[in-house]
Amino acid sequence: MRPPWTPTSWQSRPAAQQPQYDDPGQLDQVVASLSRLPPLVTSWEIEALKQKLAQAAAGDAFLLQGGDCSESFEDCNPETIVGKLKVLLQISLVLVHGSKRPIIRLGRIAGQYAKPRSAATETRGGVTLPCYRGDLVNGSEFTAAGRRPDPQRLLAAYQRSALTLNFIRALSAGGFADLHHPEAWDLRFVGQSSRAQQYHRLLEALGDSIRFLEAITGVKISELERIDFFTSHEGLHLLYEQSQTRTVPHRDGWYNLTAHLPWIGDRTRSLDGAHVEFFRGIRNPIAVKLGPSAQPDEVLELAAVLNPHGEPGRLTLIHRFGQDQIQRCLPPILAAARRADLNVLWSCDPMHGNTLTTADGWKTRRFDHILSELHQAFAIHRDAGTHLGGVHLELTGENVTECTGGAGELAESDLPRAYKSSVDPRLNYEQAMEIAFLIAAEMRPE
Ligand code: PEP
Ligand code: CO
Repeated sequence: MRPPWTPTSWQSRPAAQQPQYDDPGQLDQVVASLSRLPPLVTSWEIEALKQKLAQAAAGDAFLLQGGDCSESFEDCNPETIVGKLKVLLQISLVLVHGSKRPIIRLGRIAGQYAKPRSAATETRGGVTLPCYRGDLVNGSEFTAAGRRPDPQRLLAAYQRSALTLNFIRALSAGGFADLHHPEAWDLRFVGQSSRAQQYHRLLEALGDSIRFLEAITGVKISELERIDFFTSHEGLHLLYEQSQTRTVPHRDGWYNLTAHLPWIGDRTRSLDGAHVEFFRGIRNPIAVKLGPSAQPDEVLELAAVLNPHGEPGRLTLIHRFGQDQIQRCLPPILAAARRADLNVLWSCDPMHGNTLTTADGWKTRRFDHILSELHQAFAIHRDAGTHLGGVHLELTGENVTECTGGAGELAESDLPRAYKSSVDPRLNYEQAMEIAFLIAAEMRPE
């Protein structure tokens, strides 16, 4: 039995991955300001997302979660935001068409500013400084001033989240008409690849479906549909998450109003740790990442603590084992979950178990590894009698060169050309669209 939950009860437990600030007074002031500022999202949006996730868990919808590994303050600009929204919306349309199910669009956006790191410090040329923990905490530049954790960044991140979300809300209320004209999408990248014909046929079929619907209803789809779009980030920095956790009128319980869905990362999911304690008390739908060290019993205990009443839509489990480990790690967890009759949504992150470093020191991921983990995930769930209801991708709308492979046949020697991520490598626009086509083919109803 745990003592009663409060928004600060996590503070009596070990909190992994928290920065050390040198000015606690300033930190307290910032947290107090954040606690008074308006929320970024509302409880009714959060509850609406939970309902949709419950549908996905039941097999009647599919979750598409995607965005940067880490947003940067510099990328809070219209081009980058439009680019990300566009690629996510286009992927979702391809998936609707393939799966014949509603797609839940959940960005790693408008708050994905904090990163867990494998070491607390970094040494270069004999100089040791604190590691970069994301723009929420410090700067990526390797100087003592840049790496100093600065409490003011919490406010800056809150403001950029609000600016990003404001623009997303405006765009998704109707400003994105060209989304519905697949013939205008830029698929030059498929070029002469062996899959080019298949992609063009899929796009034509998608355009035909839209024109058919418009013809029989007499309404332009773009006028019909207000696009639902939800936000998510890793709930890593617990003082930041706590500062926007509130009760709201006419509802029970506490809501974390920094995002619709915060998740717990693979490095901070310890049962006795502060993150699990904080997350168990909020009413949001939440997710937990599961890497190769996750044991079946541990997963059941996490579900018991985080979703004791088996509330539908409350808990998403995102497995990220890697294409060479999923076959070993996933089946025992699914078997245990079935035995315990867990009501969870299963999602696959084919990115974080497939990160490599090239001989030249570039952190990258191979397109065929990502695809292989996804294919295996669908098959393993089918065999286990469970159901893969979501996918979690790191992607961007820009044509960066961070992951190798895909129809454009990006090689390791291409990586330096446009490598922008200061953390994990992302699929670029072309690679992300190609993954969408391949998942859609996988999900086509029998
Ligand atoms: C991430 O999603 O960027 C991440 C760090 O994932 P994980 O917790 O699965 O390693
Ligand atoms: Co990442």
